[in-house]
Amino acid sequence: MISFEGAAQVLLPRADGLPYLRSDRAAELRLDPGGLTADAGLIVALEPSPSEADVRVDARGCALLPGFVDCHTHLPFAGWRAQEYELKVTGVPYEEIARAGGGIASSARALRETPDARVLAQARGLAEEMLRSGTTTFECKSGYGLSRAGELRALGLAARLGEEVQQTTTRTALLAHAVPDGYTADSWMDEVEAMAPEALSYATAVDMFVESIAFGTEHLERLGALARDGGVALRAHVEQFSTMRSVPVALAWGARSLDHLSKIHPDDIVPLGRSECAAVLLPGAEFMGAEACAPARALIEAGAIVVLATDANPGTSPIFSLPVIVGLGVRRYGLSTREALLAITLNAAWVLGCSARSGSIEVGKRADLVLLDGPAEHVAYRLGHNPVAATFIAGRPVYVRPDAAWRIKLG
Ligand code: NIG
Ligand code: FE
Repeated sequence: MISFEGAAQVLLPRADGLPYLRSDRAAELRLDPGGLTADAGLIVALEPSPSEADVRVDARGCALLPGFVDCHTHLPFAGWRAQEYELKVTGVPYEEIARAGGGIASSARALRETPDARVLAQARGLAEEMLRSGTTTFECKSGYGLSRAGELRALGLAARLGEEVQQTTTRTALLAHAVPDGYTADSWMDEVEAMAPEALSYATAVDMFVESIAFGTEHLERLGALARDGGVALRAHVEQFSTMRSVPVALAWGARSLDHLSKIHPDDIVPLGRSECAAVLLPGAEFMGAEACAPARALIEAGAIVVLATDANPGTSPIFSLPVIVGLGVRRYGLSTREALLAITLNAAWVLGCSARSGSIEVGKRADLVLLDGPAEHVAYRLGHNPVAATFIAGRPVYVRPDAAWRIKLG
């Protein structure tokens, strides 16, 4: 049994059992002083149990939050693309880098040439970095396979990564990320349809990059049918660089999330806001790529389920810290602390289909928790400072910052 005592703030939902909370209701979240007790991996009481616990956590002055959920990452991948970043910041557009064989194609080459053990070693190191930033659940995507065998290998590597890291992970089959050499978008979709029965058996979602340099809305329709037939969630990278009007198409197919949205058409904001499809905003990719700013406030006013994620990948967003993403999101989008925290906890867990077990502090949920070294408002305000003093998964401390070790007492 573990008892958390004397926290200055504990982030609590107004009601139990919510699958998500529309972001225009974020003000209902409470940040009250208090504590909690966890036993056998689960939260068992919203108050401390100092006399019964084997482990006591002195949380004075700290905020106690649900473990952060990163619902959009491209782990596992091989190597990095720092040279492209230098091109990008000196003015070469992403689309041009991609057309010249860089971008996704270059990470696909790197993945092909890197043995499994090295891919997994790099990804494990990044997962540890994420643990130090408070991420207790994250999504893995394929998408750098760019061949049937490559995509299946990527999903297999994601499964192995899930066994080797402390976090809970999910797998998304990003089967249509870039058009592989020797294919057209149409003929690659034929291949995707052929591999779907096997690929989707390893995944809980499918994904696609809808963009002028990748796939069109007609291909999104084909993916929507595959998601329905395969019983997995439909997700898509949309409206990142160009306005493709993917939103109505994706909503018609019951998409779980639409990600990026920097260039969403103004007419698509209200329908997305009213739907049961999350708007996953990726301010790290927007910042690193000097992209347009997604209309977060308009989406919130429209009632959207707004989510923030890292989009961690070697190209557009080599950022693995959700606190940094919160800092960028709050500044760029004008989010309140509660809106931002909701966006990396309950709503992000809903995107991954795991909000019944994690994403909020409720009795009966897994005790995935983050202890901050100060108030929750500091996460965005002290941009670049890592506010995580300790991370807990299923009630066990899996990371404790050395200067916070005194807070955790045995017996
Ligand atoms: O989410 N936009 C497409 N996919 C990724 C980029 C992947 C890459 O450049 O390697 C994204 O930004
Ligand atoms: Fe992405």
